[in-house]
Amino acid sequence: MSDPAESLEARLDAIDPTLDLKAEIRRLKAESNAVILCHYYQDSEIQDLGDALGDSLALARHAAKTDAEVIVFCGVHFMAETAKILNPDKLVLLPDLDAGCSLSECCPPDKFARFLSRYENPFVITYVNSSAAVKAMSDLICTSGNVLKMVEKAPKDRPIIFGPDRNLGRWAMEKTGREMVLWPGGCMVHEIFSLKELLRQKEAHPGAMVLAHPECPEHLLGHADFVGSTAAMLKKVTEETCEEFIVVTEPGILREMQRLAPKKHFYTVGNEAGCACNVCPHMRLNTLEKLYLCLRDKTPQIELPPDVCRRALVPLQRMLDWS
Ligand code: 13P
Ligand code: SF4
Repeated sequence: MSDPAESLEARLDAIDPTLDLKAEIRRLKAESNAVILCHYYQDSEIQDLGDALGDSLALARHAAKTDAEVIVFCGVHFMAETAKILNPDKLVLLPDLDAGCSLSECCPPDKFARFLSRYENPFVITYVNSSAAVKAMSDLICTSGNVLKMVEKAPKDRPIIFGPDRNLGRWAMEKTGREMVLWPGGCMVHEIFSLKELLRQKEAHPGAMVLAHPECPEHLLGHADFVGSTAAMLKKVTEETCEEFIVVTEPGILREMQRLAPKKHFYTVGNEAGCACNVCPHMRLNTLEKLYLCLRDKTPQIELPPDVCRRALVPLQRMLDWS
């Protein structure tokens, strides 16, 4: 057994290549009384091992009610932090600690605090794609699945500040009619889709319905037939009689779409170079090997200062209670 303090690279190199990793992961999971929570943007082989597969709202709900002793989060850092905020006494593991999120990283807590200080008594709604420290400064958390409901619940007599995704915030303003001050952040994956490519796909598949995630910029959303969260898009493909869909979000979701609607056809949209490669590089840092190592060595763990955890729980719990 190798030393957990060794570098990840050294521990990866030392894995016995003959090992049945999937069987080992299942064995270690049972032995540790662990639960594997898995986002749709993970690779298929990881999705197969998840006890729960979902979008960030579903996974947060799962994390809130699990009685497992160990939570392994196959997603990105802010999602694992959310699980830790909800379960401060449990061990929360993330296979690769570098699995970050461009949205979360574009909103440093010190700069966000300065931004907030410019407003008097603001009501701060923060997208779940943010650090625990930013959540701790917020009044309410939202996900793409409940953003409209959360914005509608904001008090009418206070200025609303929304961060860190300006695209989601702008879309929510348009849908709810509520004015909000937006933090100027964006997701590197959803902002890179090419309008030219989307129009090319629409021309190639004129009968297809265009589904887009609200993290996409306005010029793309304007060409979508339906804008919604990961879970809402999945529901849409099962409800619609339409046979073809052009999907403007991370392509990891296509596996679940195809599973739910095996006879339908799904097309992705590429970036300017024309490739269908809008894969979230952070999400895909998690691999089967790293999942095995984190269960075996119980590292890397998510650790948060207790006061941040306590303060971040308030707006997070409010979201769970209100949604
Ligand atoms: P969901 O809230 O739809 O799971 O999205 C999370 C995310 O990171 C989208 O890019
Ligand atoms: Fe963050 Fe975008 Fe990746 Fe989602 S797709 S985890 S918002 S970088």
